[in-house]
Amino acid sequence: MNNEVRQILVTSALPYANGPIHIGHLVEYVQTDIWVRFQKMRGHQCLYVCADDAHGTPIMLRARQEGITPEELIARTSTEHQQDFASFSVDFDNYHSTHSNENRQLASIIYQRNLEKNNITLRTITQAFDPVEQMFLPDRFIKGECPKCGADDQYGDNCEACGASYSPSELKNPVSAISGAKPIDKESEHHFFKLANFEQMLQQWTKGGHLQSEVTNKLDEWFEAGLQEWDISRDAPYFGFEIPGHPDKYFYVWLDAPIGYMASFKNLCDRTGLDFDQFWGAQSKAELYHFIGKDIIYFHALFWPAMLSGANFRTPTAIFTHGFLTINGQKMSKSRGTFIKASTYLKHLSPEYLRYYFAAKLGSGIEDIDLNLEDFAQRVNSDLVGKVVNIASRCSGFIRKRFNSQLSAELAEPVLFQGFIDAGKSIAECYEKREFSRAVREIMALADRANQYIDEKKPWIIAKEDKEAELQAICSMGINLFRLLIGYLRPILPATAAKSEAFLQIPPLTWAALSTPLLSHTIAKFKPLMTRAETTQIEAMLEESKEDLAAQNASQAKPHETLTEGHLAKEPIADTIEFSDFAKVDLRIARIARASHVEGADKLLQLTLELGEGDSRNVFAGIKSAYTPEELEGKLTIMVANLAPRKMRFGLSEGMVLAAGPGGKELFILSPDEGAEPGMKVK
Ligand code: MSP
Ligand code: ZN
Repeated sequence: MNNEVRQILVTSALPYANGPIHIGHLVEYVQTDIWVRFQKMRGHQCLYVCADDAHGTPIMLRARQEGITPEELIARTSTEHQQDFASFSVDFDNYHSTHSNENRQLASIIYQRNLEKNNITLRTITQAFDPVEQMFLPDRFIKGECPKCGADDQYGDNCEACGASYSPSELKNPVSAISGAKPIDKESEHHFFKLANFEQMLQQWTKGGHLQSEVTNKLDEWFEAGLQEWDISRDAPYFGFEIPGHPDKYFYVWLDAPIGYMASFKNLCDRTGLDFDQFWGAQSKAELYHFIGKDIIYFHALFWPAMLSGANFRTPTAIFTHGFLTINGQKMSKSRGTFIKASTYLKHLSPEYLRYYFAAKLGSGIEDIDLNLEDFAQRVNSDLVGKVVNIASRCSGFIRKRFNSQLSAELAEPVLFQGFIDAGKSIAECYEKREFSRAVREIMALADRANQYIDEKKPWIIAKEDKEAELQAICSMGINLFRLLIGYLRPILPATAAKSEAFLQIPPLTWAALSTPLLSHTIAKFKPLMTRAETTQIEAMLEESKEDLAAQNASQAKPHETLTEGHLAKEPIADTIEFSDFAKVDLRIARIARASHVEGADKLLQLTLELGEGDSRNVFAGIKSAYTPEELEGKLTIMVANLAPRKMRFGLSEGMVLAAGPGGKELFILSPDEGAEPGMKVK
């Protein structure tokens, strides 16, 4: 081992701020956290930063849909993300946001420097534009009929029915997924990053030992296809940073996202006095590693090093790419309940189990890793509970009862102990190379030897034979072997390690401290360090995940489809809400003063709702399948009066009427009892 203290900066990809952390994400954050904890245990200066990726159209729209500002949405999500990470012991040195001053400044610097070097060009392009929302539409916000098979309601650029891929302009009868309006073509000037300027630099860099070989090969395909100019701007409305000197033009989210790594680190520097340039300056000697998933290689291995070198910053030492998580051999699926949120997992199972299982599966390659739920429980129970924790529980009772909690003054089996220490070298190499599954195998082989030792020495028999010194020696040896196992597992199982350290009454273990055994040392009372993972807990977690998703689907119906597209069928009862949440909904009695057909709409009726003197609202309701206008006129009903008005293809909708039923003909508007008056609040 090289005893020099290394300076290492590590990142995980920045999770999007419009959704919760799920166990697929956790593959990455757990993998990174294990590696960082290992480096820290080795005594290196290792800093781990991350942030929420807070910009982009989906975040803007999501906030709008919830009736809050993007700032409110990203603040809430940031809190939730950080809670989830903390619960899984993912221990960042700093967690920031891409929507921060540091990031605005750094994005501007990187843009300006590249502009000065002629790496950025302006060009006018034609794009789909939503005339109602007055915004350009990203591909995934255009839907229509598949040009190949004709399937209805297909998004963006590929068909879920037949699997065809195409350009969104090929969709038949395209509509905006936001307003339902037919998109028009519109021109706009965009900023492009000239990636081809970096062809030579990237050819070298991608073959210079910074990437896994599989990733280098993948990139070769892209080099062969030719390096295209990269569109780095978006038009207003957009949630992001305005491009300096270009009003109403914004940096595309993927431009400022990786800069968020720097921004988070800058924020840490400003708080703690670390030197930013020492890590990011062109001459930096520090190591810089990005852990990412295989879906975002292009951004990290091509654009990012190019942007950095174009702006005179250092490039990463390496990018560590991992594969995707599958569950029981299949993609995470909403309907199977395997789309498991971190917070849902936590209600049922210990985070340490998942950390251990991922470690047991993770190598340094980019293959997908599978979480087989049966194997998961079996592994955790037999390895951690059955082998590791068991050693401590088998030995500690005698030490406490017979020796006043005091370990013996000498090691009974110095050779065995030394064997465990020697194995540490290879285990450390495995960690360093991210071969965690091999590290786990080697540690478990040691655990087997420790258990074998105890089985052979049979302290429970010695205890009956009045051989006090021998009993203390055997149990102390067992406790010392346990200490080494926990030390080696510590990067993977930080919470269990902390409990073990409390039991052993020792300071946090470092790698260097491991080789000194605990002798003539008093330990604490043993408390169970880990319980078994039960099948019933796993089943309950899957069940709750199905419910989560159903509730989410109901509340997140695509914009404008809440009533109009038959989303009322089989809705589950949602989670409970606080009274204050309910109080936000202003329900009023309304008189349907007029009802009429809407030209060109299959499902909508246009209603004029009166809420009393001088307050009438125009509402489009998706109840045409169940009512004629004549049946409705004059009726009293209940409406949501404080719903933010929405522009629809046919006009402005200023509220919502309440109806029940699965849809089609079976849709029933709610009516109050006699005596209710328009405008009355429903309480
Ligand atoms: N915001 C971008 C990253 C910007 S980095 C400058 C993003 N966010 S993400 O939330 O979609 O994903 C965050 C990380 O989690 C990515 O590295 C992604 O590959 C990883 N994973 C997301 N789902 C995953 C699985 N199902 N399995 C393994 N990793 C997964 O991409
Ligand atoms: Zn199709």
